[in-house]
Amino acid sequence: MRQPRPVRIVSFLVLLVSSAIFTATSAAAQDYVTLRDNGLVRTPPMGWNSWNKFACNVNEGLIRQTADAMVSSGMRDAGYTYVVIDDCWQVGRDAQGNIIPDPERFPSGMKALADYVHSKGLKFGVYSDAGTHTCQKRPGGRGYEYQDARQYAAWGVDYLKYDWCSHGKQNSVASYSLMADALQRSGRPIVFSICEWGSTKPWLWAPGVGNLWRTTGDIRDSWDSMVKILDQQVGLAPYAGPGHWNDPDMLEVGNGGMSDAEYRAHFSLWAMLAAPLMAGNDLRSMPADIREILTNREVIAVDQDSLGKEGERIRDDGDREVWSKPMADGGRAVVLLNRGTTPSEITVTWPELHYSASMPARVRDLWAHRDVGRRTGSYAATVPGHGVVMIRVTP
Ligand code: GAL
Repeated sequence: MRQPRPVRIVSFLVLLVSSAIFTATSAAAQDYVTLRDNGLVRTPPMGWNSWNKFACNVNEGLIRQTADAMVSSGMRDAGYTYVVIDDCWQVGRDAQGNIIPDPERFPSGMKALADYVHSKGLKFGVYSDAGTHTCQKRPGGRGYEYQDARQYAAWGVDYLKYDWCSHGKQNSVASYSLMADALQRSGRPIVFSICEWGSTKPWLWAPGVGNLWRTTGDIRDSWDSMVKILDQQVGLAPYAGPGHWNDPDMLEVGNGGMSDAEYRAHFSLWAMLAAPLMAGNDLRSMPADIREILTNREVIAVDQDSLGKEGERIRDDGDREVWSKPMADGGRAVVLLNRGTTPSEITVTWPELHYSASMPARVRDLWAHRDVGRRTGSYAATVPGHGVVMIRVTP
């Protein structure tokens, strides 16, 4: 039906204005630097970060001892590589704008510390912030992106976590793209970990900018915090893949606020999410039960699977959930999660895994380290309260 003339004029004006806005925003988008894939972390990064356990209480002794413990505990051999100092290593800038590490806490300097970490067959990471200050009010990177990136490269930094405090009116895409460009021009391959807490939906823009991006606010060492973060991952799986990962925050395993069953659930679910596995406990005094969780190679293999597909929640029956992650061998990793406090039987059916109900498949329990046998159609297990059963189903 033909519209009356005033309506047609208004429609035309709306079209004109919206196409002008579109042209302006795409011109602005073109002002952003063009980035290349840096080729790093084709599987999710693994390592250790100081924040969850030590907060601002960092120094070179802790980092050296942690690197030693990473080797002696078997963590390095299980795949943990990056040793990352979070906030509070930096105290100011000199007259030339160079970032100054705390001379009391890091008297030997960052180059010597990076060399030490490298001598252990590990990689070295630091933390900064896209705004003027870090979250602990240390100098941020704003306005010093290229200078800092060159400095990090000269020290031998392999990983940068870049936070989002004190960003004022900065645009997140522009700010993180700028630092990504600076890192690329530094001449050293540096993993870029974006930490803007999911505030500007980084999964929509960060895959071309960073290697991982936080999807939520900070994790705490409690069951409630862990499952709250888990719920916030629903729907984000399609955005992750080799070289670019959703980051549901670092591990709390071993920090004392959860039971072993809860930590096994936390670790299993992070592996299902193809999450970066950054331990956050004191590796120097790690008890055997915690080491067994963090070095469970069968669970780590799920996280590190070469297909690089993030797992998804395929069933949500209140307290009983089923998560599935497609694996490179055509199989599935499956987690049966019991969010209730008493044991409960949970079943996964083959059609839920996109398999025919009549197809026989091998089932292996990744915490019991035991082949359960061949099953057809479904698998059921009794799952402890606040716990998981984690299996691999292989046709
Ligand atoms: C937060 C960040 C934490 C930690 C902390 C340091 O913004 O999410 O992981 O880095 O800052 O101050």
